[in-house]
Amino acid sequence: GDTAVRRDRFTGGPAREFLSSLAADAAIFEADLAVDRAHVVMLAEQGIVDDGVAGEILAALDEVEAAGHGALPDGEDVHEAIETAVIDRVGPDGGRMHTARSRNDEVATCIRYRLREDLLDAVEATVAAREALVDVADEHAETVMPGYTHLQPAQPTTVAHYLLSYEGGVARDAERLIDAYDRVNRSPLGAAAFAGTPFDVDRDRTAELLGFDGTVRNSMDAASARDFLAEAATALATLATTLSGLAEDLILFSKDGVVELADAYASTSSIMPQKKNPDTLELTRGVAGDAIGEATSTLSLLKGLPRAYNRDLQRAHASVFEIAGDVREATTVAAGAVATAEWDEAALAATAGEGFSTATGVADLLAANGLPFRTAHEIVASAAPAVDDDDDPATAAAKVDEAARAVLGESLFERVSRDEVERVLDPAASVASRDSAGGPAPATVAEDLTA
Ligand code: ARG
Repeated sequence: GDTAVRRDRFTGGPAREFLSSLAADAAIFEADLAVDRAHVVMLAEQGIVDDGVAGEILAALDEVEAAGHGALPDGEDVHEAIETAVIDRVGPDGGRMHTARSRNDEVATCIRYRLREDLLDAVEATVAAREALVDVADEHAETVMPGYTHLQPAQPTTVAHYLLSYEGGVARDAERLIDAYDRVNRSPLGAAAFAGTPFDVDRDRTAELLGFDGTVRNSMDAASARDFLAEAATALATLATTLSGLAEDLILFSKDGVVELADAYASTSSIMPQKKNPDTLELTRGVAGDAIGEATSTLSLLKGLPRAYNRDLQRAHASVFEIAGDVREATTVAAGAVATAEWDEAALAATAGEGFSTATGVADLLAANGLPFRTAHEIVASAAPAVDDDDDPATAAAKVDEAARAVLGESLFERVSRDEVERVLDPAASVASRDSAGGPAPATVAEDLTA
């Protein structure tokens, strides 16, 4: 028959391995069976293939599925191999399965079918990660910790406020994955090679059978488009980038001894017996690099491809499925590390005021008592070099007052009471005062946690 003629002409020769995607196509084996079934059902419903033949093909597909991807006959790709396996069982009538379609619309449909699952798995992992962040935040609404900018002590905050900053990021990352899902979730099937088909196919029906939310209408667009892969890869890379920041912080916090990872999320050294290393978080940080690479390589592969189908496209999707799995795993592991880590409240409290991190609060207090903020800033800035980490509040307040006398020619305590100045020098009071919307004050965070 026709297939035999085609295979005699194009054996692949020495380039056969290079041409073949059969091994990588294991990722779309299940998808291809689903696509084949939907297509055959539609062909029968439309009277394009008779019911008896359709039934035989469907039965053969069940056998092919039971035998598994590893049992497929040789072929250039999974689509060809499954078709061969069906023909081997049904005879030449099995070749009617490929009526009114091409591998181009077939593979595009398989990719979208498989990627939907990967994206949903990633979204599910983000839900668990957000739960872990919120749960731990809930336990630590009052746990004061140093907040940093430029990795320098900046202002005290709380562990809850810190963790919720990542919860917000992961929530947006999940939205991006869901947006990507919505555009992935359209069926290209029925586009054939790119130019449609004279057969009376029902594209909406195959879309429905495969659970897609409609079709990609233009048949050339449907067969050629892979922008959804770039979008998915970018959304995954953005999530991985968010997690890499969280991982980096926790690596630094464990170096400082204020966070201790659970043993299950740490690793040891084969030579240094005392070591407890944050390897899971380092791998999480590493996944972000791979995910960014994947987004970049996907766009690079697509850039400048002419319409319609080009074989370059065969190299576009398998690595996106793989990075989706890696990012999902990193999300789950990072969430587990957060959920089980111990925050050393005493150590955090001891470092929360380091580096005169309450200075902004003092300037705010002066500005709230009539000084222009810039003047208040100048006074506190000129006191800063003299303020030591082990100064008690009274000593630090006296040093600020000295600076005020130099700048204003009068004592600070003409404007505010000593008590008030000493109070804002306390890291916990400093945090509690910052109760603007979304701020770290425990009362504000408590509201946000119940909202
Ligand atoms: N394995 C191919 C791919 O993934 C299927 C499409 C082959 N189409 C073709 N015109 N050679 O892209």
